[in-house]
Amino acid sequence: MAEETMILTERQGRVAVIRLNRPKALNALCDQLMEELGQALRGFDADPEVAAIVLTGSDRAFAAGADIKEMQSRSFPAVYLDDFIGKRWEAVTYVQKPVIAAVAGFALGGGCELAMMCDLIIAADNAKFGQPEINLGVIPGAGGTQRLTRAVGKAKAMDLVLTGRMMDAAEAERAGLVARIVPLAEVVAEAVKLGEKLGTLSAPALAMAKEAVNRAFETTLAEGVKFERRAFQSLFSTEDQKEGMAAFAEKRPAVFRNR
Ligand code: CAA
Repeated sequence: MAEETMILTERQGRVAVIRLNRPKALNALCDQLMEELGQALRGFDADPEVAAIVLTGSDRAFAAGADIKEMQSRSFPAVYLDDFIGKRWEAVTYVQKPVIAAVAGFALGGGCELAMMCDLIIAADNAKFGQPEINLGVIPGAGGTQRLTRAVGKAKAMDLVLTGRMMDAAEAERAGLVARIVPLAEVVAEAVKLGEKLGTLSAPALAMAKEAVNRAFETTLAEGVKFERRAFQSLFSTEDQKEGMAAFAEKRPAVFRNR
């Protein structure tokens, strides 16, 4: 018999909200949940009615990591041949639309890594981030040693990855991991509000802006600047560029049509 679905989705205007919903396991990211998450992300990315995606969990946990009980008995050949923590986990990194993580409670291990794959993190004041894998005799396996280091620098990344300690929302904001902290009760609404704002902008420009910022993690400064320049120039082929600049000159709001 099929298990219950582990994510909930809803639309709030042009924003799709995906809620991880496995409360008994603090949203531990098992195979089924990641499969469902990937499908939802691909579906909303392809839906022209959706401008942005908010990914969230519960008040208690965004996600407490990969499912330890599910993976504990796996062997190296099994995880290797299954590409465990491979493509299935990276679905969010292939989404072209903005993806905002609204993080409350625990974002640990794979939960922290999933949040870091999103474009930006809005944290509730009760959020706790960490990479506790070292306590399990392993290391982060979904980009934690890489994305965390790029986000917060070597000193704090080493501190977190080697000790497994958690950092609270204030520390995560100071360190540059999260974009904003808001009261717990407002975290999803704030993320949706941001998504709605993004929905009024030019979708091709937003997608290229994402691509260009992400390129900063992948390449040298000179190559990144060249990439940015070409992307900037290419946007002069869009109607939205003509509209955006005409609207400025005519002192009226722009109406972007995503082309
Ligand atoms: N996997 C499976 N089950 C988990 C889980 C996880 N990652 N995290 C929590 N749960 C389960 C618990 O086993 C418990 O289930 P039962 O009630 O059936 O015993 C339930 O969720 C509630 O958890 P706790 O009773 O432990 O709640 P707590 O408030 O006392 O502690 C916590 C909360 C500190 C988050 C603690 O649950 C914890 O340390 N969880 C594990 C965190 C972790 O190590 N994450 C990394 C996983 S490895 C990984 O993610 C690899 C990677 O890089 C992708």
